[in-house]
This record gives sequence, structure tokens and C-alpha cells, in this order.
Amino acid sequence: MNKKILFILGTRPEAIKVAPVILAIKKSANYDVKVCTTGQHREILKQVLDFFDIVPDIVLESMEINQTLAQLSSKLFKEVGLIFETYRPDLVIVHGDTTSAMVGAMVGFYNRIKVGHIEAGLRTFNKFSPFPEEINRQVISRVTDYHFAPTINAATVLKQEGVDDINIIVTGNTVIDALFIGVEKVQSETFNNKQIKYLESTLDFSKKIVLVTGHRRENFGGGFVNICEALLEVSELENIQIVYPVHPNPNVQDPVNKYLSNNDNIVLCDPLDYPAFIWLMKKANIILTDSGGIQEEAPSLKVPVLVLRDTTERPEAIATGHIKLVGTDKIKIVKEVKHLLNNDEYYSSFSKSENPYGDGKSSEIILSYIEKNL
Ligand code: UD1
Ligand code: UDP
Repeated sequence: MNKKILFILGTRPEAIKVAPVILAIKKSANYDVKVCTTGQHREILKQVLDFFDIVPDIVLESMEINQTLAQLSSKLFKEVGLIFETYRPDLVIVHGDTTSAMVGAMVGFYNRIKVGHIEAGLRTFNKFSPFPEEINRQVISRVTDYHFAPTINAATVLKQEGVDDINIIVTGNTVIDALFIGVEKVQSETFNNKQIKYLESTLDFSKKIVLVTGHRRENFGGGFVNICEALLEVSELENIQIVYPVHPNPNVQDPVNKYLSNNDNIVLCDPLDYPAFIWLMKKANIILTDSGGIQEEAPSLKVPVLVLRDTTERPEAIATGHIKLVGTDKIKIVKEVKHLLNNDEYYSSFSKSENPYGDGKSSEIILSYIEKNL
């Protein structure tokens, strides 16, 4: 009988990074694969699954506007727990550090089922940054059986925490697998996308494009106000167009709409679907973001990233010079943007090295590890 594998995922980045693994494992005839979406995200998750032609087998509804972490977790523990009563997988796979991933791993553990963790071993060792993700991923590591570490550095961290070498495999980051699939589709002649058409007709590509995203809880409040003030100053620079697809979280929407709407040099839009976002990243001159995934993707597209955070669990991209931490300090953000715009040598120093997050083969490595070990 085929072994049963259950994927549990809830948010946009999990869907992007897990999609290539789901597709790879589904291709193998050896597994019965089920995908459970927790409903932590709704519209921005669906966009991704549609793009990768993945239809979830179990769909939970947990999203509520502005719910607390405790409300979300308690709902998910109950609902995900029920799934394990009817469907007993041999392996549950989660990704990263979200609430959905933490709950999926814990419920797997409660049921004594093997847990596989993609993107294992990322750390800042600062429990409030990113909040609550740093603790989510540490908790997940404690109950994981198969640790799919994206880099040697992440594997080393896990070993230092006492994880047995034999249970760790360095895979590269599956985000690059997804990016390669995405870029190929977007470049194909038959590809048709409404949001790309909208961007083509709205944006002025004779200007330098500064692409912005942000959603981290530790930046809510003062941090977002500082970021908005910095963007207002950047918008006054010559020949600049800021494009900001705004995360649906009301803690992001409110300050961004309050400070940045009605500005000729700032285009605010809804979150873009994944192909449109890739398309726009490729066109961007600079990216300002607090996103984790974008820190890993942008190096492949050779776009400098200024990270709107004080910490990062992506030290590899700092070491290769692809990204730079600027936090939420208005003066620092504006200074760094100007430096990038005015100094070609500095600009090109961001894309001198290869992307440290892999070559798009991570899903195959994960599949072959599972084939050998499950
Ligand atoms: C979550 C993850 C974070 C990940 C991010 C990716 C946790 C604790 N955080 O943060 O690690 O980087 O997703 O985006 O798991 N909303 C909608 N529609 C959607 C999605 C969200 O309206 O499709 C709004 C809702 O008001 C929701 C709020 O955004 O309550 C926050 O969503 P939530 O999943 O709690 O946190 P994120 O900030 O998205
Ligand atoms: N992304 C997207 N549309 C957007 C913004 C981001 O498809 O409008 C993609 C981006 O390419 C990356 C992922 O979403 O792969 C990052 O998600 P997010 O920033 O929400 O989460 P994080 O990576 O910080 O966990």
C-alpha cells in the first residue's frame, strides 16, 4: 500500500514554497498525497494554489479579520486535530514558521506521526523578531523527524541544537524551484495575466521602480509609520515610481492608506498574484521589504533588497551582499535608497555573487530523501 503524506499549509509564502514539493511528490506513484489548507490566509493563498494547479483536499476556514494569535492557534489545533482522527498519514509535512506550520507539526507529534519540516534551521535567536515566527520554528524543530535545511548554515544551527546529523539534509530553498517554474510560465508566449496588464498600463517604466512590501507584526504601529514617512521622502526624488502591493492585514492597510494614498509617484495596489509579482520584481530597480521569501528570490533576479527589519534569518544573503538590513529608521532607509540610485558601483555590488538559496532542485532532493527514509 502507498505511504500517506499530508501537507498542512495556511499562508501565501507556504503555498509558494511547498507547491514544487507537492508537485514533485504527486508525480511519484509511491505516495498518497493530501493537501490541507488551514484557511489562515484566504484570497492570497488561493491565488498561489490556482497558479500551480493545486486543488486542496481539505479546506479549513480559520481566517477572521484581525484575530489574535491565540484565537487563530486554538481554532487550528481543534480543526487540524480532527483531520488526524479520520486521516492517519505516515508523514506530515509543514513549511517554515507560521502558526499553521507550528500547529501542523505539533498535531503530528501528538499523534506520533513523523514530521517533515521544509526550510528548517532558520534562526535569529531573538524571540520577538520575527514575532511570533522565531519561536514557531524553534518549536517545530523540536518535534521534527526530517529536517530539510535550505543551507549549510541552517543545518549547522540544527546540529548545534542537538539534532542528529542523520535527520538533517541540506536541500537549497524550494522558493527557487517555485521561482523557476514561475518565470518560465510568465515568459511563455501564451501566458495571459490581468494584473500584469494592469501594471503595464498603470506604471511608468521610464522611471526607476522601487517595489515595496511589508507585513511583519514587529513593525506594526511606529515601524510602519516610519516606513511610510521614508517612502514619502523617496517619492520626492527625481525619476522615481514607488509600487506597493499592500498586504490585506488591517494593521498594514490602515497606515499605508492613510500616509501614502493620493501621491502621484506612489502606486498602491492589492496584493499581486505570484506571476504578476515575479514579473514586477524583474522590472524593479530596488526592493524594500520585510518579507522573508523576497530576500531569497530577489538575488536570482539581481535586484538589490533593502530589508525593513533589524534582524534577518537569512545571513547567507547578507554575506553574499545581495541584501542589506535597514530596519525601520527613516533616515537610514532614505540614505540607502539614494546611495543605490546614485552610485552604480554600489548598486552592482548587490548582484556580484550567485544566489546562496539554491538552483531550483530542492524539491527533487526532498523527494529522494523521503523515498530513502520513509
Ligand atoms: C502570516 C505569518 C507570517 C508570514 C505571513 C505571510 C503567522 C504568525 N504569520 O502573517 O509568518 O510571513 O503570513 O504573508 O503565521 N488577511 C486577509 N486575507 C488574506 C490573508 C490575510 O484579509 O488572504 C488579513 C486578515 O485580517 C488576517 C490578517 O490579514 O487576520 C493577518 O493574517 P495572519 O495570517 O494572522 O498574519 P500575517 O501577518 O499574514
Ligand atoms: N508575493 C506575491 N504577491 C505579493 C507580494 C509577495 O506573490 O503581492 C510573493 C513573493 O514573491 C514571495 C512571497 O509572496 O514568494 C512572500 O510572502 P510574504 O512576504 O507574505 O511572506 P514571508 O516570505 O515574509 O513569509
